Amino acid sequence: MAKLGLIAMGAVALALVATAATLARAKSDDPEKVNAWFRGLSQPLSHAKHKTTHLHFYLHDTLSGKSPTVVRAAEAAMTKTSPTLFGAVNILDDPLTEGPELASPLVGWAQWFYALTGLKSMALLMYMNLVFTSLDHNGSTLSMLGRNPPFEFQTYQEMPIVGGTGVFQLASGIATAKTYFFNSTTGDAVVEYNVISVHY
Ligand SMILES: *[C@@H]1O[C@H](CO)[C@@H](O)[C@H](O)[C@H]1NC(C)=O
Ligand SMILES: *[C@@H]1O[C@H](CO)[C@@H](O)[C@H](O)[C@H]1NC(C)=O
Repeated sequence: MAKLGLIAMGAVALALVATAATLARAKSDDPEKVNAWFRGLSQPLSHAKHKTTHLHFYLHDTLSGKSPTVVRAAEAAMTKTSPTLFGAVNILDDPLTEGPELASPLVGWAQWFYALTGLKSMALLMYMNLVFTSLDHNGSTLSMLGRNPPFEFQTYQEMPIVGGTGVFQLASGIATAKTYFFNSTTGDAVVEYNVISVHY
């Protein structure tokens, strides 16, 4: 059900629409300010007023050319003979843009890594920090941690948002990712992301 809802929302073509995002907490706050803000939330937290933000952007993963955004950081002795590349770790710093073209306005960066953790079928453990630079969210981050089984032929990969900073303090949410473009010769990819997050 939740999945269907998100797909429907994706179809509405949200263009980085933020609802009720406050600009006041866009920067990393000092501990005193964070404590004061935390105390100011009504208790219990489940009754605190929350905000919901929808984000839509494209991630550009470039392996080819002079400026790749991906590096193989580690692999195990068995990775080369493993059909699922078990044991490999890649580190990435990918630009995020409003539209699918790389020349489209930049909204931030995905600084992340994935590890190949499936022994029998390919599965990525994805740990991604989304670092936003666009006006409403400049300096704020969302952290995503999830499993991405690339060959399980689902249209969307669903991964949890596990936290955030700045305007996204105490965030939780769901990211859905879908390959928009893939060059099988170079491995270059453009991935469409829809993120819904609840924060305070
Ligand atoms: C985001 O913040 C940085 C650092 O404070 C600043 O240089 C940049 O101009 C800001 N970008 C936008 C779009 O406001
Ligand atoms: C994939 O990359 C190769 C090598 O750069 C290029 O020749 C080819 O046109 C690309 N294919 C697509 C569909 O972009």
